[in-house]
Amino acid sequence: MTAARTETSPEHTEEIVADALAQADDLASQGRRLAAVESLVEVARQHRDVRLEEALVRMRLDAFAELDRTPGRDQWPPTLSDPFPDVSGAPPEVPASDLDPATLGGALLHHGSLVVRNLLDSDRSQQLLASVQRAFEALDTRADPDAMSDVERARWFQRCSHDGSKPSLFGMGTATMRVIDSPALVFDVVEAFHSSPLIGAIAGYLGEQPALSNNKWAIRRSKGLPFSDLHQDGAFLGDDIRTVNAWISLTHAGGDSSAPSIEMVPSRLPGVLPTGGHGAAFDWTVSDEGLATMVPGVELVTPEVFPGDAVLFDELMMHRTQCRDADSSDWRWAVESWFFAPSCYPQRYAGIAV
Ligand SMILES: [Fe+2]
Repeated sequence: MTAARTETSPEHTEEIVADALAQADDLASQGRRLAAVESLVEVARQHRDVRLEEALVRMRLDAFAELDRTPGRDQWPPTLSDPFPDVSGAPPEVPASDLDPATLGGALLHHGSLVVRNLLDSDRSQQLLASVQRAFEALDTRADPDAMSDVERARWFQRCSHDGSKPSLFGMGTATMRVIDSPALVFDVVEAFHSSPLIGAIAGYLGEQPALSNNKWAIRRSKGLPFSDLHQDGAFLGDDIRTVNAWISLTHAGGDSSAPSIEMVPSRLPGVLPTGGHGAAFDWTVSDEGLATMVPGVELVTPEVFPGDAVLFDELMMHRTQCRDADSSDWRWAVESWFFAPSCYPQRYAGIAV
């Protein structure tokens, strides 16, 4: 929800921000970082300020240590009935109002994915697209000090050093940027999540409050490639994870649009398939020939998506960006967010409380 901003003098704003930061530090010193996150969010809804946004990034990373790591379900995957017994050859679809734990879990376990129409409403998705494009603008112009004020750049792009990861080129390319490297975007994306039933549905399915991560939470812009391999993220996320990925398009993509959607197997695969053979380009990918050999008769589908639509899936879903000739393609903008059960969190990633 977008709260109305409060009109205050600059001096009063300074006082409010200073008080909010002091209160958050106080709560953190008592081991109450989740409460500190909540209190910072409340103030930032009224006063968007880089110091609050930066503090929220740090506090969300630190708050991960306070999450309950007890497995929410004794058995994984759970046994759930198929909510879409008549659907085959295409992913099941629901409007956002029908997204709940049983629908999500049943769809993933029986069909491999679930398309959620209008997960974000039109105002929210337009606002998020503007934020995503602003973050990429800050990334693209980082070598030009005149392109953006220092404060604006700090809000929209600053390499996070609080997650323990070594500086790398990840997030410095033209196509992908970590959300965590944009404090203002972290705020906007989490607000967008909380405007929808997404986190509640994932929490109910996992049986525990999910967390995000530093390196599997990204914004992407793509024109597609004429050809690419397929992959399952389970090929590199590690074993024993419980996860749901929310891929949210902020662009009309696929169908009769000129932007690439996501191309995917519209059924549940039994596990992570062997990678790297049959002419695959990488040791973690699967070629079309390899897929046809391992899953005879499989046909890929490309759902047409509109701004605010989401495709939800997990580590077993075989997919790629829709193949397109980049020269004649439009940009597709999307947010990809892998939610993990804290009890089975991939060790290589720093967790983020949401
Ligand atoms: Fe992927």
